[in-house]
Parts: sequence; structure tokens; C-alpha cells
Amino acid sequence: MGTYVVTGAASGMGRASAERLRAAGHTVIGIDRRDTDVVADLSTTAGRSAAIRNTLDRAGGRLDGAVLAAGLGPIAGKEKVIAEVNVRGVIELLVGWRPALAATGNSKVVVFGSNSTTATPGVPKSAVRSFLAGDLDKGVKRASRIRAAAAPFTYAATKIAVTRWARRAAVTDDWAGSGIRLNVLAPGAVSTPLLETQLAGPQAKRVEGFPVPIGGFGDAEQIAEWVEFMLSRAADFMVGSVVTVDGGTEAYFRSGDW
Ligand code: NAI
Repeated sequence: MGTYVVTGAASGMGRASAERLRAAGHTVIGIDRRDTDVVADLSTTAGRSAAIRNTLDRAGGRLDGAVLAAGLGPIAGKEKVIAEVNVRGVIELLVGWRPALAATGNSKVVVFGSNSTTATPGVPKSAVRSFLAGDLDKGVKRASRIRAAAAPFTYAATKIAVTRWARRAAVTDDWAGSGIRLNVLAPGAVSTPLLETQLAGPQAKRVEGFPVPIGGFGDAEQIAEWVEFMLSRAADFMVGSVVTVDGGTEAYFRSGDW
């Protein structure tokens, strides 16, 4: 049995993943703003440092895997916080945990991306570049040029940035070369508090109108099964992949890209 850290463990897909891993007999260190093992605010530098330190202490410096599920959806007016949690709350934590992941010799990481990375047209490339360069203010500014699309563009740009970061890091000596399998899971519309907030807000029509060919939304437990699979022996030969689980939305928009 292994030791896994799961961010966003108090709700939705992070919670379902943590529960599934615990039920399988693993030790899970949950991180969230509330109701879990390590309570930390990943939108702040101090919160991220505390999350890194506490996890390493609890895990004794060895991690079999990490699931980065904490994230904020496209909430208007919260663009900077979205960027802090969705970009720094993934990259800083993974960089901090990398030695502990390398220590086990065969570890797995699942970063939560989103199908919004490929199904949102017109996301400013300069916003993604700024997020990757660590300039969140500039990234938010670039993503917010069209005021009405500021939150969806910021959200999609943060998810593109972490996906690109993960794929670039995945193949290097520090990650694949150190026995760490780093991959991205890109869900589509999944019934969680994050999606419910969107369905109750000004974006409701846009979200409801998004095509999901299979019909209806996914559920958190289905996604947790994918997480467990991506942490298992099945992923020993999987590095830098993006696994889309979205009821067909991405294929609907992009089937011609192959
Ligand atoms: P959720 O809202 O149910 O859970 C997200 C968790 O992240 C919450 O427990 C929340 O407290 C935590 N979190 C947010 N800000 C935090 C902060 N500053 N510090 C610490 N924890 C914080 O959301 P859900 O849907 O389970 O989302 C999981 C991941 O999947 C997110 O990264 C999200 O962007 C992504 N995603 C969700 C989709 C959906 O339709 N639900 C679609 C595509 C991607």
C-alpha cells in the first residue's frame, strides 16, 4: 500500500479520489481549505509552503503519488485567485514534492486539467505564456481583454498552462528520469459543487448549452476511478499524457484534428 497526497480533498473529484484510495487501503494526505488532514489556502504563498511542508512531514519524505485536484472554476471577478490556485497551487506543490516522489523510484502524479483547454476557442496565447513565466497579473490582464470572457479565458488559460507545464516537465530527467510518471486528466462537465456554482450563475446558459454527446454530466466517482487507474501499475509506461474523460465534448469540437 502506498502514500498519496490529494489536493482539493474536501469536495468533488478530489474528495472522491481520496475516498477511493483510502478504501483501497492506501494512506492519503488530504489538502484543502477545510475538512481534511492539512488545511491550507493554496491561493497564498504561505499556504502553499505550509501544504508542501506538512505533507512531507506526514509522508516521511516519501510519496507514491500525488493528485492535484484543487481548483477554482471560471468565477467572474476572481481571476487572480483562480490563477493562484490553478497554476501556482499545482506547479509549486509539485516542485516541492518532487524529491519525495523521486524517493520511491516509481511514483505517479495526476494533474487535473480540463477539456476547456481544447474546447474554448480564442484563449489568448499571451495569457498562457505569462502564467507559465510566473507573471500572474500579466496573465490575468491578457486573458481579460474581452471583459465578458475574462473568467472563462482566465480559467482555460490556467489549465492550458498547467497542462503544458506538466507535459514539458514529464519527459525530463527530473521527472521521467527519476521514475515519476506525470500525467494530466482532463475532465469535461462533471457534477460537483464547482459545476453547480456555474449552473447557478451568469454562465448557466453557456454551460447548459455545451454539447455532451453521451448526454448528461459525469460524476465524481467515475473520474476517481480514472485517477486510481492513472496511479496504478497500468500507468508505468504512461508519461506526459492527457486523458480526456468528457462524454464526447472534445471529440465533438475537434474530431478533425487527427
Ligand atoms: P470542487 O469545487 O468540488 O472541488 C475543488 C476543491 O478545491 C474544493 O474542495 C476547494 O475547497 C478546493 N480549493 C479551491 N480553492 C482552494 C484554495 N485556495 N486552497 C485549497 N483548496 C482549494 O471542484 P471539482 O469539480 O471537483 O474540481 C476538481 C478539479 O477538476 C479542479 O481543478 C477543476 O478545475 C477541474 N475540472 C472540473 C470540471 C467540472 O465540471 N467539475 C471540469 C474540468 C475540470
